[in-house]
Amino acid sequence: MISRPPHRMVQLNAGSRPNRPRPQAAVAEHTEHSISAAVSPTHHNQPGLNGLSACGTSGLTTGVFQINAVQPVRYVIEEVSGLFDVRNETMLRGVVPDSFPCQPTVLPVHTPGQRRFVVMDDNVYRIYGHRVQSYFATHGVECRILPLPTNEANKSFDLVFEIARQMEDFKLNRRKEPIVAIGGGVCLDVTGLAANLYRRNTPVIKVPTTLMAAVDASVGIKTAVNFDNRKNKMGTYCPPLAVFIDRSFLRTLDQRNLSNGAAEMLKMACIKDAPLFEVLEAHGKELIARHFQSPAASVAMRRSIQGMLEELEYNLWEHVLCRVVDYGHAFSPEIEMAALAHGDELLHGEAVNIDMALTTQLAYDRGLVSLEERNRVYRVMKRLQLPFWHPVCCTQLFCKGLLDTTKARDGLQRVPLMAGIGAATFVNDLTREEIAAAAAQLHALAEAESGAVASNIVATRPASLDLALAT
Ligand SMILES: NC(=O)c1ccc[n+]([C@@H]2O[C@H](COP(=O)([O-])OP(=O)(O)OC[C@H]3O[C@@H](n4cnc5c(N)ncnc54)[C@H](O)[C@@H]3O)[C@@H](O)[C@H]2O)c1
Ligand SMILES: [Zn+2]
Repeated sequence: MISRPPHRMVQLNAGSRPNRPRPQAAVAEHTEHSISAAVSPTHHNQPGLNGLSACGTSGLTTGVFQINAVQPVRYVIEEVSGLFDVRNETMLRGVVPDSFPCQPTVLPVHTPGQRRFVVMDDNVYRIYGHRVQSYFATHGVECRILPLPTNEANKSFDLVFEIARQMEDFKLNRRKEPIVAIGGGVCLDVTGLAANLYRRNTPVIKVPTTLMAAVDASVGIKTAVNFDNRKNKMGTYCPPLAVFIDRSFLRTLDQRNLSNGAAEMLKMACIKDAPLFEVLEAHGKELIARHFQSPAASVAMRRSIQGMLEELEYNLWEHVLCRVVDYGHAFSPEIEMAALAHGDELLHGEAVNIDMALTTQLAYDRGLVSLEERNRVYRVMKRLQLPFWHPVCCTQLFCKGLLDTTKARDGLQRVPLMAGIGAATFVNDLTREEIAAAAAQLHALAEAESGAVASNIVATRPASLDLALAT
């Protein structure tokens, strides 16, 4: 259950949620001896606990053993203002000794001898490094900051190894010294992986500084690096110790990266949160212009995070393949890779938006959304300054993308489509013909929007292109 403790804190406890499909636990057919891991402060060889003490070696009739263990997950995601203001003690939290799962201390600690190892995106370091340094210095915490060029092109194991080497050099005590990652999604993914691998799990506090990282990359438990020219091909599931979100970092983020993160918020709005959609519809332009510093930004970000967590919590390890949070992610990986090869790179959220624009048209063509709803979605995309199209886009590319996605989803398309604004339905039967028709419509719209009105295509379906996408 997601609970909402006070102080704008969301606590994630992985568990089940009613009315949701849940993965079935594997059941061994010939179970003679079952070993259940129990969390206990003292260890006793209790009869019956592991099946061995009860019967002794003479009772062992087969060599089949079964282990059942549960890994508890509990971490907090907290919205904090003035995170590195010296009066704010959030970043002084340590680790509760012997806690399992590892937990941050509830009250700030001022223990002598405190140390912190901080990995920072190098651009973020240039702007905020001195503030982080003086924050820890003021509180008598020995701090080593490692600024790294954590951008998409460098998102590889080289960075992971560099972080691990520096942790070793720092002689990090993983029992009481959580490492801190401050940056965008790349920094958090790479540092999270290094933390997970170093000594088989070192606690990590994540401080997202981009919108994408705040509403998406930091809130789940995935870590990753690119591998073999494929995005996020290597990674782990590793819950952070805590996530602290300070929206004021977004003041220095450029428009393109703000729009990029907003695409993931629009995703949540389209398929599960109509009120969020209305906030984006009413305030989209202002959200970007004011770098998400307005009251509407707080509402929009909280709703996005809450919605994301509702979808992630029961499915943290992604056993369930029909995920509404995959909306906008069926065609987009292929679009993103093709744009990169084309030399006119798309950010992840931009590719996601093109995918959502296409699937909105597909939903309209299937009668799942009305013309008015479709046009409302397109207007919000425009207000958020997100692209509808890219020169690499074509039916062939979309179909190739869907084929790859289908493979990754165990042979079924499982594509979420909007079913009205704020709801979704899954489909497995998208055809090449309907993708081609939707692509033609979208291309025409994009052309019209860019000023080069494709009058011949407009003439084929004037009603659907009568968007008046004025903002
Ligand atoms: N783990 C997950 O579940 C998950 C989810 C979504 C995305 N991701 C990953 O996140 C990455 C994208 O994240 P991103 O969009 O944050 O990109 P990013 O980390 O590359 O950051 C984007 C740019 O913004 C700069 N920057 C960061 N914070 C800034 C600030 N406050 N002011 C000025 N500049 C700042 C960075 O230096 C960088 O140039 C991708 O690699 C993606 O795979 C992971
Ligand atoms: Zn995404």
